[in-house]
Amino acid sequence: MKILIINGPNLNLLGTREPDIYGSRTFESYLRELREMLDGDEVEYFQSNHEGDIIDALHRADCDGIVLNAGAYTHTSLAIADAIKAIQIPVIEVHISNVASREPIRHTSLIAPVCLGSIAGFGLTSYFLAAQAIIMNPDR
Ligand code: DQA
Repeated sequence: MKILIINGPNLNLLGTREPDIYGSRTFESYLRELREMLDGDEVEYFQSNHEGDIIDALHRADCDGIVLNAGAYTHTSLAIADAIKAIQIPVIEVHISNVASREPIRHTSLIAPVCLGSIAGFGLTSYFLAAQAIIMNPDR
């Protein structure tokens, strides 16, 4: 299977950004391990701090499933929700932190209703779990 991981704003700073919440590992380091764990499946990676670039990445995606951490756009972006609705590929929403246990603004996800499902709160393992959800549900 081919899986595309899309990380949104500020997730390029993983490793140094609020390590008490997001941990002290860079995403590049985790991605190497994830690719080893998903040996046999292909994992593409895209990160952007810009809403439109994330939308473009969703539009041009050519894969079996998308793992999307939209960062703060999760809570604000109707445009990203519309882009998810516009494509035929299943999208899994992921969060490193348990957004339900954080500030009330983070309890609302505009993308959750248009995603296949959501995984949050397991640190970087959230990405592995989301990839498994795609691999184990090839036909939904
Ligand atoms: C996040 C949670 C969001 O609320 C936050 O804005 C992020 C990261 C997470 O992975 O826990 O940037 O998506």
